[in-house]
Amino acid sequence: MVLSSLEFDADSCKLSVLDQLELPHSRIMVPVVNSQDAWNVIRKMQVRGAPLIAIVAMLGLAAELTNCPPDNGADSESAAAAQELVLQRLDFLRTSRPTAVNLFNACDAMTALVAEAVGAEGATGASVRSAVINAATAMVADDIAANKRQGRFGVQAIRQDCAEKLAAAGAVSVLTHCNTGSLACAGFGTALGVIRALHEEGLLKACYATETRPYNQGARLTAFEMVEDNLPGTLITDSMASFLMAQGGVDAVATGADRVVANGDTANKIGTYQLAIAAKHHRLPFYIVAPVTTLDAALADGSQIKIEQRAAEELTSVAGIKIAADGIRVWNPAFDVTPAELITGIVTDVGVIRPTLDAQGKKVFDIPAFL
Ligand code: MRU
Repeated sequence: MVLSSLEFDADSCKLSVLDQLELPHSRIMVPVVNSQDAWNVIRKMQVRGAPLIAIVAMLGLAAELTNCPPDNGADSESAAAAQELVLQRLDFLRTSRPTAVNLFNACDAMTALVAEAVGAEGATGASVRSAVINAATAMVADDIAANKRQGRFGVQAIRQDCAEKLAAAGAVSVLTHCNTGSLACAGFGTALGVIRALHEEGLLKACYATETRPYNQGARLTAFEMVEDNLPGTLITDSMASFLMAQGGVDAVATGADRVVANGDTANKIGTYQLAIAAKHHRLPFYIVAPVTTLDAALADGSQIKIEQRAAEELTSVAGIKIAADGIRVWNPAFDVTPAELITGIVTDVGVIRPTLDAQGKKVFDIPAFL
């Protein structure tokens, strides 16, 4: 059975998502019939991962537009009324989680698309709704195709940067962080997609998943995907990564991203930054793998990225069991920002973006505005 983060029937616009809080123990599908349901599953992190958050938000809206006809019947709704409804729902969906830019890019794209649909000759409420539903539906296949392209570009980058190791050993070991696989996307994955692509080409010796405290996306989800796909995977704690590198166990590090800004600074799951530092110390290539929908050229540098803060209980408890003293203060940012100078390449679905050196000899990226 192919692991899938969601089930979506394009004809009926019926959506259900795999409850990732129940993995790896049970596979429970949660129905999403409207924007409120989509907001809930994103906020509770039943679905998570930058691309999937955007897809579920837009499909939840599409389900609502399909299943909840206008009050006075489909024929009576004006194009302007449908637009008002869509914009109100998009504003609401934007409040679900703050850091992954894919959601905001999707909302902006949908806003522009609706404006265009309203301006079209003979526009009606039904035609505006259809435009939104079609665009949301297309996101599923588009995301999988984008991930496959990132996989191919990632393999090319690793072939180039790890040429000596590949010549000597025929295969490489890649370490990844958090979950960036089928469960973070519509399918295949970004950084884990590159690992899958390496495996498909017989170039993968080993892959390592960090457990990714405090939310354990690595232990709960990436390890699960590695086992499901028969990848040569090993689980480590976050604190073991540097020692593994020192022992020669890692040839490259690949992680996903929640937001890549104009100079290449990248927000991703907390712990990514320390992996990039460790990779630099051990002279290992460090890749960010993300579709262009994760790029945010509107922000100049990483200091402008809003970082989600999460509940103290994620640190003070493990699987519902308290492990820390009552009264201890907790700092729990869900993401950190890896400075661009630590990044070897940003693997997107349109190619690998490499840094150039600025006047001071510092690595900088010039992230274009794709969207
Ligand atoms: O808090 P999460 O689980 O949504 O964080 C996910 C990550 O940080 C991923 O690495 C990122 O979204 C890329 S997913 C392809």
